[in-house]
Amino acid sequence: MDSTEIGFWDDRYRANRTPWDLKGAPSLLRSYLLRNPGPAAALVPGCGSGYEVRAFDEAGWTALAVDFAPAAVERAKTVLGPLGGCVRLADFFSDDFGGPFDLVYERTFLCSLPPALWPGYARRVAQLLKPGGSLVGIFFYGEEPEPPPFPLDPERARRLFDPLFTLEGDEAVPESDSLPLYGGKERWQVWRRR
Ligand SMILES: C[S@@+](CC[C@H](N)C(=O)[O-])C[C@H]1O[C@@H](n2cnc3c(N)ncnc32)[C@H](O)[C@@H]1O
Repeated sequence: MDSTEIGFWDDRYRANRTPWDLKGAPSLLRSYLLRNPGPAAALVPGCGSGYEVRAFDEAGWTALAVDFAPAAVERAKTVLGPLGGCVRLADFFSDDFGGPFDLVYERTFLCSLPPALWPGYARRVAQLLKPGGSLVGIFFYGEEPEPPPFPLDPERARRLFDPLFTLEGDEAVPESDSLPLYGGKERWQVWRRR
């Protein structure tokens, strides 16, 4: 069971075993976008079903959603209908997305990656953002005896992001934006690129 393998995710989407799927964009993202309307450009890495693309579009943003699992991309294109062209089959770490972006969105992508990949994630996000751009979304701070999901803790997050980012927003995620898999241990955070 290796969550860095495309097949790990592809099999789960094809079998409809997706306990991480929120079935819509979190209300915290909608509130954030009300305060920060577009035009602006967002990247949604590890997008899964890609619901957030519609929320960005409705707020006047342009969003590019990427996932390396073909079944996730098929699902997102179905979910998004006319916005399906915003979804690409791509590897977050190695493919070229153009950019730079004003915002990189996070939900359950970082915690799906083994911690050995986290420094590369932080560097890649920093590279994809404009100076002053933000890494925004939901981060998992719970405990997990059998990861994935791989949990963060505040000290680890500080060490991971601090050299490149400043934490500008941090609040609890309400139950309506969370799922049993994450045990109410998620935070909505805004990390601004220095
Ligand atoms: C737990 S799912 C989360 C999906 C979505 N963010 C959500 O909130 O429902 C993790 C996703 O990351 C994708 N993924 C993992 N590694 C990836 C990589 N290197 N490049 C692109 N996508 C990746 C998987 O295919 C999977 O769809």
